[in-house]
Amino acid sequence: MPGRASRRDRIDPLRDYAEAMSGPIPDYLVEVERQTYLKTVAPQMMSGRLQGRLLALLSKLQQPARILEIGTFTGYATLCLAEGLGEAGRVDTIEGDAEVAFWARRNFAASPFANRIDLHLGQANEVLNRLAGPYDVIFLDGDKRGYPDYLPFLLSRLRVGGLLLADNVLWDGRAGGKIRDEDAAALQTYNELVYQNKRLENLILPLRDGLAVARLRE
Ligand SMILES: C[S@@+](CC[C@H](N)C(=O)[O-])C[C@H]1O[C@@H](n2cnc3c(N)ncnc32)[C@H](O)[C@@H]1O
Repeated sequence: MPGRASRRDRIDPLRDYAEAMSGPIPDYLVEVERQTYLKTVAPQMMSGRLQGRLLALLSKLQQPARILEIGTFTGYATLCLAEGLGEAGRVDTIEGDAEVAFWARRNFAASPFANRIDLHLGQANEVLNRLAGPYDVIFLDGDKRGYPDYLPFLLSRLRVGGLLLADNVLWDGRAGGKIRDEDAAALQTYNELVYQNKRLENLILPLRDGLAVARLRE
């Protein structure tokens, strides 16, 4: 609904407290956040502090050799996920917008992961064909209508025991709700496909706009 503040933008003292008590957050990430607000027109697309800490923690538990992200934006989540990289681990991240990719590259260069992140500029459905798996962690955060179509492809690239993370799966309460747009319908389809897939165990966290954490079983 245009003009309506989404849940993640509303003043929320509980979230503010949780953010304040979660950390530490590396200095280079604080700067990425600051620059994202200064340089982009939709900074709310960035994962942000709380979700960023969760992504970093999940990645540290997984110690991935390879990470794939769809939808880089300014690279905030990419850098959070990179915190967990195993020795010699690498990240592939895909971004279709050249302007935000420029800022992401700058942010990566100013981080400790400058030589361990490959940013692929292009449409995800094209770039994905050039990337072979297996990946230990995949973060799906690009065009929401594409989520159901990406799913079989991403599962074919995910290592057994690996994590498939997907952002915005609640779509401000509209996925699974009464008022639905095309994005909400696609996200609802994605959630159902993941839930019904016997090879996946899934947890939807009502954090920010909804983060789905799915693990590929043996
Ligand atoms: C929500 S933002 C990503 C936020 C980022 N992952 C983070 O957490 O900070 C979504 C990004 O996906 C990009 N995007 C959307 N559709 C895409 C597609 N089909 N191919 C590549 N990038 C796409 C957009 O340009 C945008 O920068």
